[in-house]
Amino acid sequence: MTLRRPSLFFRALVLGAQGVFYNMLFLTYMVAPKACHRFVGYLEEEAVLTYTRCIKDLEEGRIPEWTNEPAPEIAIDYWRLPADAKLIDVMYAVRSDESTHRFVNHSLANLNTKTDVNPFAFREPDMHVKGKKIGFEREEAAKYVEESHDLYLQEKEKGPA
Ligand SMILES: [Fe+2]
Repeated sequence: MTLRRPSLFFRALVLGAQGVFYNMLFLTYMVAPKACHRFVGYLEEEAVLTYTRCIKDLEEGRIPEWTNEPAPEIAIDYWRLPADAKLIDVMYAVRSDESTHRFVNHSLANLNTKTDVNPFAFREPDMHVKGKKIGFEREEAAKYVEESHDLYLQEKEKGPA
């Protein structure tokens, strides 16, 4: 928004599309939650690819007007970037975010919604996992839940800090 300053008409179109999409996804989720997570997983996967291409173009100097462009203030605040962050740092942060969304949604799409526990209820894997893996397979999710439970019991044993 800060970079492109879209017109009011364009913003209204986006808002309208979001209104339609939100309700369609909500209704679909009621009957097919796994399909929704898979769909969003693919969307996020595509976002990771798009940002990867953008980063490559920036690094290879193909977008000279953005090469030394400072990061917008709102992006610095949101991703807690250093005050002198550049636009490329924002791209890295956004891509990292998108890979988390990809990971979480593909993982949830792999679960049995009737019996399985949400593996991210207590904690989330770090970026070394989320950045390299598309998502947890069902067995990996179950193992992660198990580990979280063990961690919880260990903390409980220690008592209040
Ligand atoms: Fe996302």
